[in-house]
Amino acid sequence: LDNVPHVFTILGASEDLAKKKIYPTLWRLYRHGLLPNVTWFIGFARSNMALAEVRAECDQYMQVKRDEKEMYEKFWGLNVWVDGSPFMSRDYEILNLEICKKEENTSSNRFFYIALPPHLLQHSAERISTYCMADRGWTRIIIEKPFGKDSDSSAQLSNHLASLFKEEQIYRIDHYLEKEMVQNLMSLRFGNRIFGATWNRENVASVLISFKEPFGTFGRGGYFDEFGIIRDVMQNYLLQIMSLFAMEKPSSTSPDDIRDEKVKVLKSMKALQLSDVVLGQYTGDLDGEGEAQKGYLDDPTVPAGSITPTYALAVCHINNERWNGVPFILRCGKALNERKAEVRIQYHDIPGDIFGGQAKRNELVIRVQPGEAVYVKLMTKASGINFELEETELDLTYTNRYKGVKLSDAYERLILDVFCGSQMHFVRSDELAQAWRIFTPLLKQIDGGQVTPIPYKYGSRGPKEADVMCDQNNFK
Ligand code: BG6
Repeated sequence: LDNVPHVFTILGASEDLAKKKIYPTLWRLYRHGLLPNVTWFIGFARSNMALAEVRAECDQYMQVKRDEKEMYEKFWGLNVWVDGSPFMSRDYEILNLEICKKEENTSSNRFFYIALPPHLLQHSAERISTYCMADRGWTRIIIEKPFGKDSDSSAQLSNHLASLFKEEQIYRIDHYLEKEMVQNLMSLRFGNRIFGATWNRENVASVLISFKEPFGTFGRGGYFDEFGIIRDVMQNYLLQIMSLFAMEKPSSTSPDDIRDEKVKVLKSMKALQLSDVVLGQYTGDLDGEGEAQKGYLDDPTVPAGSITPTYALAVCHINNERWNGVPFILRCGKALNERKAEVRIQYHDIPGDIFGGQAKRNELVIRVQPGEAVYVKLMTKASGINFELEETELDLTYTNRYKGVKLSDAYERLILDVFCGSQMHFVRSDELAQAWRIFTPLLKQIDGGQVTPIPYKYGSRGPKEADVMCDQNNFK
């Protein structure tokens, strides 16, 4: 790749995502020398902004070290700005001319990161395919969720994209797939004897996959209200983690072998029903401080009386030989008591107990964030002269075991994957269709107002009913 020019275009370069995530990520990859030798960056947006202004707005997120000033200047020297509207064909022609200027009459590879609001995605994709494809190199398109709102709209979007690009050109981001510990799921299971043998209904009582955030949706209530927590987090991140966790061993680590196995898991799941879920919406905590006093409905960008859930717990089942009868509990929520994303595998109680009920269930926990860790909760003899049992942990917390090692940010990995052409951590269209199949009937019922979310206080664990549901589903 090294001497072939690569041109990375950001559409929507003046949007928040570009300033907070995309430019800082490109800078970090550049700083670490991870990009091909000849790489150019083009910002495309209708904003009457100049590159200098965008740079000024990005500066606070770039974390430039004192000795990197010169390199930082060089980085911006590789940037070009094209003032253009996502609707105007003429502007895409201009964009194409700018890209051609960087190609120096050789073949080049092109990236288009469409970081535009959802309603502009299809317009933009269509114009890229008409005016901006590489003649003598490859073209890759990177897109962000939402990928539709339900089965029909997602299928319409997938068909539209399929009419413009090949599947191997489309990189659908699910940034949880780029998190260190999500990627570690496969290594832990298939790179060890010890866990794989227990990965089944004979040993596992239940699996809880959680995503908790200690802040509300303030400031983005307008976006959030249209989608709700299930579309924001559960239908994508949590379901992706679940399918990666539960899949059979792929025949290789190639992206398609892995994705084939993930799709099989999804195909073995029934569509969820209202009785499988607990939904909640946060209210302000009058004793709390600052933001915590405001409930979801206090956000002026949220429509009055909205019944959009900000918390959801769903119990899923995989109807196959390995997992039949094992509840997979997906749980996610905003404005909860802590920030945490983890997979918690709870093992069955010990059969034939000889310790008078002292033995608690084993748990294997894979903590995605904060503080990446894998730990096993297990029983040992309490130290000392007595013969009691005690619960303890075999703990692989990354900051202790790998001191000073910096784990890459999910966006760094994902952009690098696109450069390398690895789709392993991106969502294929058939996975997406299955994910929507599982959630669409439920979402229609929720959107149709058939259920009112249970109020829970900002900073709490969420609705009590969710704990009851866990209890009823073999999670202690
Ligand atoms: C985004 C969701 O995609 O992911 C947000 O829209 C959520 O609601 C965010 O806060 C979480 O990402 P991370 O990497 O900060 O856990």
